[in-house]
Amino acid sequence: MTTQVERDYVLGTHDDEVQRLQFQHDLWQPHVRHAWLAAGIGPGSHVLDVGAGPGFATFDLAELVGPLGRVVAVERSRRFVDLLAGACDAGGMHHVEAHEMDLMHDAIPASGLDAAWCRWVACFVSDPALLLRRVHASLRRGGVLVLHEYVDYERYRCLPARPGIERFVQEVVASWRATGGEPDIARQMPALLKDAGFRVTGARPLGFAALPSELAWHWPAGFVRTNVPRLLELGRVDAAWAKAVLDDLTAAEADPGSLFISPQVLEITAERL
Ligand SMILES: C[S@@+](CC[C@H](N)C(=O)[O-])C[C@H]1O[C@@H](n2cnc3c(N)ncnc32)[C@H](O)[C@@H]1O
Repeated sequence: MTTQVERDYVLGTHDDEVQRLQFQHDLWQPHVRHAWLAAGIGPGSHVLDVGAGPGFATFDLAELVGPLGRVVAVERSRRFVDLLAGACDAGGMHHVEAHEMDLMHDAIPASGLDAAWCRWVACFVSDPALLLRRVHASLRRGGVLVLHEYVDYERYRCLPARPGIERFVQEVVASWRATGGEPDIARQMPALLKDAGFRVTGARPLGFAALPSELAWHWPAGFVRTNVPRLLELGRVDAAWAKAVLDDLTAAEADPGSLFISPQVLEITAERL
C-alpha cells in the first residue's frame, strides 16, 4: 500500500508548507520573472511547470502567457494538485491543465511545448536524468528549459555561527538524500543536460544574506520553523534536538546584527536540441 508519507515529498504538504511555498515564491519572484522573460516566455507561450507544488509559479506563468497560451502543471502530490486546480477554477484560468503524476513513473502528458520551468524539484527525485529526458520529450526542438536548483546547499548558515542551525542544515541534507534526492543537484546539471539532449545557454548563481529586520530573513528562518516539526514527524530527530535548533534560531533573531546566508541556487537555461 502507498502511504501518505511515501506519496508526498520529504518536506510534506501541510498548510504551513503551502504558506512557506507562497512566501518563498513571492520572495524569489523578481529573479524568476527575469529568467522567464530572458527565456522568451511571453503571451501565447506553451509552458510546462515541472513539480508545480500548489501552483504559485503556475499562476504567474498563466498570467504571463495569457489566455492564448497554455500552462501544463505536473505534480505528484494530490493535495497540491487539488489546491492548484481549485485556484485555477476560481480564477478562471482555463488555459492551465493540472496533472497528478509522478515524474519517476509516468511520461509528461504534453509535447511540442515552447518552454519548461523547473524549480527545486530535481533535488528531490531519485533519477534526475530521467526527469530531464521526460522534460526533453515534452518540448519542441529549440524549446527552452529554465532550472532553479541548489548548487551549494550548505552555504545555508547563520553568522555568527549557530551550532543548532548547522546541525539542522546537515539533517536536511541527510533527509533529502535518504529519500533519494540530492540537494546540490545543480552541480550535475551541465553533464546531465548534455546527455538528455540539451545545450546550456546561460547560468547565474543566486542567493542572498539578510538581517533579522529584513523580509528575506524569513525565508531561511521560516524553513527552520516548518521543517523542524517535519523532521520530528518523520522520526529523524527527537524533541531535545528540535528545541536546541529552535532556541538557536530565537537567539539569532534576538541579535539585530545576525546574518542568515541562504543556500545558493544556480539558474541554468538550456535549449532542447
Ligand atoms: C520544493 S517544492 C517546489 C514546488 C514548486 N516548483 C515551487 O517552486 O514552488 C518540490 C515539489 O516537487 C514535487 N515533486 C517531488 N518529486 C516529484 C515527482 N517524482 N514527480 C512529481 N512531482 C514531484 C513535490 O511534490 C513538490 O511539490
